[in-house]
Amino acid sequence: MNKTSSFTVGIVGATGAVGQELLRLLHERNFPIGTLRLFASARSAGKVMEFAGKKYTVEEARAGVFAEVDVAFFAAGGPVTRSLASDAVKAGCLVIDKSSAFRLDPEVPLVIPEINPQALRRHKGIIANPNCSTAVTLMALWPLHQRFGLKRYFAATYQSVSGTGADAVRELEDQVQAHTKGQPLPRKVYPYQIAFNVIPQVDTFGANGYTGEETKMMQESRKIMDLPQLKVSASCVRVPVVRAHSVAINAEFERPVSVEQARAAIAEFPGAQLVDDPAKQQYPTPLDFTRKVKCGVGRIRVDTALDNGLALWVSGDNLWKGAALNAIQNAELMVREGLLRPKAALTGV
Ligand SMILES: NC(=O)c1ccc[n+]([C@@H]2O[C@H](COP(=O)([O-])OP(=O)(O)OC[C@H]3O[C@@H](n4cnc5c(N)ncnc54)[C@H](OP(=O)(O)O)[C@@H]3O)[C@@H](O)[C@H]2O)c1
Repeated sequence: MNKTSSFTVGIVGATGAVGQELLRLLHERNFPIGTLRLFASARSAGKVMEFAGKKYTVEEARAGVFAEVDVAFFAAGGPVTRSLASDAVKAGCLVIDKSSAFRLDPEVPLVIPEINPQALRRHKGIIANPNCSTAVTLMALWPLHQRFGLKRYFAATYQSVSGTGADAVRELEDQVQAHTKGQPLPRKVYPYQIAFNVIPQVDTFGANGYTGEETKMMQESRKIMDLPQLKVSASCVRVPVVRAHSVAINAEFERPVSVEQARAAIAEFPGAQLVDDPAKQQYPTPLDFTRKVKCGVGRIRVDTALDNGLALWVSGDNLWKGAALNAIQNAELMVREGLLRPKAALTGV
């Protein structure tokens, strides 16, 4: 790789659930990495991690570390993005952020490359990526919107524990083990036991009774699809699934829609895979759509309570399309379009 084709890539939050998938996907998708820098909190500084058979020492993420980084994937939570992104941007480093810190900032593009890739062109140093439930939901709704005009949708989510992060996966596993041994169930991450249970709360409650996750689904759907008047009502639920979120959607459209037309729209869309054969009991499940690039869409039927309505089901990997994959797809697109170049190539160093 020469200086014009390879990048100094940083991962902030490299030790976390999303950070691990960023590493795996950057390698699997052959992203043009010249130098890799791994960042996390001071707790992880000095830890050694492997990437493509080479060992890397984790550094503490702090101001000043981005001077030589071309592109940094931020996956360490909103407060870390808010405190470090501007420092990275000043250093000429493109920030591709997984947190909610800047998603609704009108100056920051919020991009799903299959839906609004044109928004990447107006970035000012930061690209935001959607919340995981929104990303998975829109992989089903966007192709339907393009044909039939989306008016409003209702969603009930079935969200896996990896959406909360690495500690939550351990909590589910520990609770299952403790249960099988007849021991008291340890609980730190969730307000209720998650093993053998469901928790109708994802994120904190707002004054209107909706949670942050439910509000994000409305606001981010509007911004990404450029539908500022879109009506959305979501109920977000945590379920004892390790990985991949599922969403039951009821959507109303401007124009009449049949099941066959809807299936054809989904089948043609690059972000979705149609799995929909009731006679053979075929529909997507989270296990089947773990570590899959596409989100699975099925259970498509005419909604019996809405005009021009459809009921459907989508499963997609929250750590891939909902997080790491979407971020990398945005970076790949920027490289292809010449919107991201190594600093060394620009300065001729
Ligand atoms: N999980 C998902 O499905 C998903 C989907 C979409 C978006 N996101 C977003 O992605 C981000 C990461 O989520 P996650 O699920 O990967 O969480 P996680 O598993 O808890 O990992 C958090 C990462 O952030 C690092 N970190 C924490 N405090 C830090 C600090 N002060 N400075 C630098 N690094 C710090 C942690 O490093 P240490 O190991 O040193 O603590 C760890 O690497 C969050 O903004 C989340 O909202 C997650």
